[in-house]
Amino acid sequence: MKSNVLLVDDDPFTRKLFENLFRPGGQIDLVCVASVAQARQAFGLGDFHLVILDQRLPDGNGLDLFAEMRQQRPQQTALMVTGHAEVRDAMRAVRDGLFDYLTKPFDNLEALEATVAKALEMDRAYREIADLKQTLAAQAGDPIIISRSVAMERLLVQMRQAAPLDTTVLIEGESGTGKEVIAKSLHALSPRSSGPMKVLNCGALSESLMEAALFGYEKGSFTGAAKTTAGYFEEADNGTIVLDEIADMSPKMQVSLLRVLQEGTFVRLGSTVQRPSSFRLICATNKPLDQEVAAGRFRADLYYRINVVPLHVPPLRERREDIVPLCLFFLDHFNRKFNKQAGPLQADTLALLENAPWAGNVRELKHTMERAVVVNSGGPIASADLGVHSAAGAAAVAAGSAVPNQLLPYRQARLQFEQAYFSSLMQAAGGNVSEASRISGVARQNIYGHLERAQVVSKS
Ligand SMILES: Nc1ncnc2c1ncn2[C@@H]1O[C@H](COP(=O)(O)OP(=O)(O)OP(=O)(O)O)[C@@H](O)[C@H]1O
Ligand SMILES: [Mg+2]
Repeated sequence: MKSNVLLVDDDPFTRKLFENLFRPGGQIDLVCVASVAQARQAFGLGDFHLVILDQRLPDGNGLDLFAEMRQQRPQQTALMVTGHAEVRDAMRAVRDGLFDYLTKPFDNLEALEATVAKALEMDRAYREIADLKQTLAAQAGDPIIISRSVAMERLLVQMRQAAPLDTTVLIEGESGTGKEVIAKSLHALSPRSSGPMKVLNCGALSESLMEAALFGYEKGSFTGAAKTTAGYFEEADNGTIVLDEIADMSPKMQVSLLRVLQEGTFVRLGSTVQRPSSFRLICATNKPLDQEVAAGRFRADLYYRINVVPLHVPPLRERREDIVPLCLFFLDHFNRKFNKQAGPLQADTLALLENAPWAGNVRELKHTMERAVVVNSGGPIASADLGVHSAAGAAAVAAGSAVPNQLLPYRQARLQFEQAYFSSLMQAAGGNVSEASRISGVARQNIYGHLERAQVVSKS
């Protein structure tokens, strides 16, 4: 899809540069105007994915124009073109919702292109979330799965193929990756969607409680069985049972479950009556089940029975393209939940989010956004509001903690720190020096010196 970009700049050189950068026939349609008046007109008529504004215009100021545009379209993504003298104003504008700024002269075209690409990505994510909200209003109640990455799209294709079939599905993936949302979607998209869905966590219950919960029991069948109670096998008839953390199921329960799956009937505890039940089984695990089988902790025959359609949910670090849309989705979600107006996310905040390790996957990201909204007093979210440990931050802490153990000479200690810090910084910045400058607060022209001293890059 093509992107529409509005450039507001009276300087012919800048216009030429952008015209060359976004050559006709490429992915970007560029509209150039030279004044505030022309910009107002163009903005009123068109829908622009990105506005690039010069700060000083013949008939006004780019910052005021930006404020005006945001009144008309609060989620307008914009970049400011700024000279060194005016960087302070641009930085202030970032705090008011400007996505980022570009410093003139443009000596690094790659960085310029990267910033434009990032801004367009941000706009795309905003639009996707807006579309999604409309779809959601239409089908309220269905689980929401945000996906942008190829890996996630592939998984969703498999999920949609498996949903209408009545087979058992095994969902594998690290904790917090979204196994439960996948399980809910499988049920929602199946012919059993009007039937019940029951979720049981096999790790959370003792063997006897688990047995009672699944099979149900007759009054008096054990101490405390005050009245006859139906279990999940009974309640989920014509519906779906999700067994979460299936790897934690005891050997005895594994045998009982296998029997129910083979025979399609079950017996309540304390009864002898065979009762039929038609349920669809979905299992989820964050331990690779084949390894559990190899280690003798999980029955091979049950494994083959439940591993009919395996779905693997990849960890978030292997699908970083999903991070921006997930952040915007949760930002919107918690803004509504807490009746707040936090946002937008500043460029350095995004960089931090995109590069964090996310060991706790989507759940950790969700909690991070919740915290950011809670502490925000209305306005852009700065990286400091996140409490996320970036790779750079972690390395700096690690380098710092080496000091008390072995007190190195100062120069050596500093070198060690700088090496760890600047290599992580460049990683976090995706190799982009402007980005690195913003994350670290070190002036851009000084970054190279640091990188060379720390031997992150060699002198050429
Ligand atoms: N792709 C996604 N889009 C929107 N929300 C998601 C997505 N993936 C996960 N979530 C949300 O993140 C949280 C964690 O997901 P979920 O509970 O499904 O993870 P899980 O893999 O089952 O974790 P665990 O192994 O710890 O049980 C939930 O609140 C879920 O709604
Ligand atoms: Mg789960």
